[in-house]
Amino acid sequence: MQSSSHAQLTEALSQALGSGAVFAGEAALEKAQGSWMRLGAPIAVVYPKSTEDVSAVLRIAHRFGCPVTPWGGKTGLAGGAMAEGAVALSLERMNAIEDIDVASATMTVQAGVILQTACEAAEAEGLLLPLDLGARGSATIGGNISTNAGGNRVLRYGMMRDMVLGLEAVLADGTIVSSMNRLMKNNTGYDLKQLFIGSEGTLGVVTRAVLRLRSAPVSQNTAYLAVADFDAIPRLLRRLEAGLGGSLSAFEVMWPAFYDLVTTEPAKGKPPLPRGYPYYVLVESLGGDKAADAERFEQVLGRALEEGLVVDAVIAKSQAEQAKMWALRDDVGQVNRNGPAITFDVSLRIADMPAYVAQVEDKLRARWPKVDNYVFGHLGDGNLHVLVWPGEQGPGIKKAVEDIVYGPLQAIGGSVSAEHGIGLSKKAYLPMSRNAGELALMKALKTLLDPQSILNPGKILD
Ligand code: LAC
Ligand code: ZN
Repeated sequence: MQSSSHAQLTEALSQALGSGAVFAGEAALEKAQGSWMRLGAPIAVVYPKSTEDVSAVLRIAHRFGCPVTPWGGKTGLAGGAMAEGAVALSLERMNAIEDIDVASATMTVQAGVILQTACEAAEAEGLLLPLDLGARGSATIGGNISTNAGGNRVLRYGMMRDMVLGLEAVLADGTIVSSMNRLMKNNTGYDLKQLFIGSEGTLGVVTRAVLRLRSAPVSQNTAYLAVADFDAIPRLLRRLEAGLGGSLSAFEVMWPAFYDLVTTEPAKGKPPLPRGYPYYVLVESLGGDKAADAERFEQVLGRALEEGLVVDAVIAKSQAEQAKMWALRDDVGQVNRNGPAITFDVSLRIADMPAYVAQVEDKLRARWPKVDNYVFGHLGDGNLHVLVWPGEQGPGIKKAVEDIVYGPLQAIGGSVSAEHGIGLSKKAYLPMSRNAGELALMKALKTLLDPQSILNPGKILD
């Protein structure tokens, strides 16, 4: 677009939303700082207050043929919010919690509600919104839906997709599709909300949603376990699932480099177990009976120790200790200590993990002997995070690292993204995880819903 039409576009947006809701030039640039990355130079950043406002923005953008990139909390890790040359549509001011229905355990929200705010509102009613991830204080429900966020409790409660009963979205031409289903069961034809969950703003802009809540747990038990060899990990996982009767809510594994990193200055964390074990597992159970759950938790872990599945263990004795245990897990920012790490969220079968991790480590170290390679993740979900600082930046370096990390996945039926999404950063690797038929249907859907390709263009697919 020409800059003269930029001015006309900005003017049209200001007329529709009011000038206090539209920022251009330097002001737009300032707003384009995300938590993990810069989000390009948007033509304008707009702050709608209602679904009708979003519809107006899209009608205008459609008329101008201008790309629109939705923004939630700007905490994404795949570049889905990159808004270079686009109108950035922030849902930030659409932050109302409209309703909590305690009897049906549902919550109706606008897309810009911060995840943590939604969780606290549910808790105040004795209910649980179970999505939990490190960026909880700034990520938004709309962003969580658009990226189908995962996080720390997927093992028990599923991903964001499993918590969405209904939603409202605005299509590329401004058409509003309101599908605010509140029912647990509703088998009336195509489940349209699924088009917008995990499609990273490429098929529509999510503006409101009905979320499914659960009963708030009464008890929380948390422990760090040390494991001596990888074979014991899946056995331990199954043992805890069976022994804890369905209350296991997290099974996070850390390889020693990550454990050492988050328990060494300048990190604030202290090691709950001695250093030097081959694997550390953070486990959590959420239940309905404080005394009985604590006893059961101790018993099950005790048996795992006796049988040698676990070689060392420490159970948190207070909420403060639990918080410290989780803070270690969430202190992922430490990986950038020596330089900006390249982040991965691969998915693979647990049985394939030891060989995969060894192969990636060997290849990285062969090329960069001093590489920082941190491996940890939601092992219970088959999701590993690999965070790599090769020690140098420059043309071709990132791709070389990506080729090493993604390379082995196709042959073992793994996925290049377990939870962060494709965005811009994994687009080139999508065909490793999706076949030609799947890609063709994705493209056909995109063309049907967004024929001019103005909705977050260039994300996921070209
Ligand atoms: C985490 C992010 C990196 O699990 O997905 O901390
Ligand atoms: Zn994660």
